[in-house]
Amino acid sequence: MSIDSLTALIRTIPDFPKPGIQFRDVTTLLADGPGFGELVQRLVAVARPLDPDLIVGIEARGFILGAALAAALGKGFVPVRKAGKLPGKTVGIDYVLEYGTDRLELHEGQVPAGARVVLVDDLIATGGTALAAAQLLREQGAAVLMALFAVDLPDLGGKALLEDDGVATQALIA
Ligand code: PRP
Ligand code: HPA
Repeated sequence: MSIDSLTALIRTIPDFPKPGIQFRDVTTLLADGPGFGELVQRLVAVARPLDPDLIVGIEARGFILGAALAAALGKGFVPVRKAGKLPGKTVGIDYVLEYGTDRLELHEGQVPAGARVVLVDDLIATGGTALAAAQLLREQGAAVLMALFAVDLPDLGGKALLEDDGVATQALIA
């Protein structure tokens, strides 16, 4: 299946969650069996040569893609969650949003020092979420081999933000 066919499976919903936002909704791609399979195969093709120890996925849609990728590679999956969701002892990072701040957390010890990880999410927009996750992983002593996304919204500059911070970044669909 071509990238154009994959792209066509992602629908755009106008004015969600706010007026003026054109929301790229990957649930239509996930709901398509051949499309989801192709997407995961393409993620595998990028991640396998990096030989990661772990796949780390960002809540919420990064869990879906990250877990599928980890299982296909036979590697562990570790979730990075919004604050207050993980039951065990956590380490976290606060980061600045357009209005206010947010916090991402990880179970302490699930990403050991020296781990080589690929960070996964469905989409990169401003890059603020992924940059915070990458910084949190680095604080644990991990090497972030790549931040890998299904979709990039290039006008929002997220890829450049991550790459300026030394995080190799790739998206399948731009
Ligand atoms: C979306 C998306 C990324 C993030 C990208 O998640 O899945 O995680 O926003 O935006 P950024 O590059 O500007 O940081 P969302 O905040 O909608 O959370 P959800 O997946 O829990 O719904
Ligand atoms: N789709 C999904 N998540 C997002 C988007 C989008 O268009 N923009 C920011 N986060």
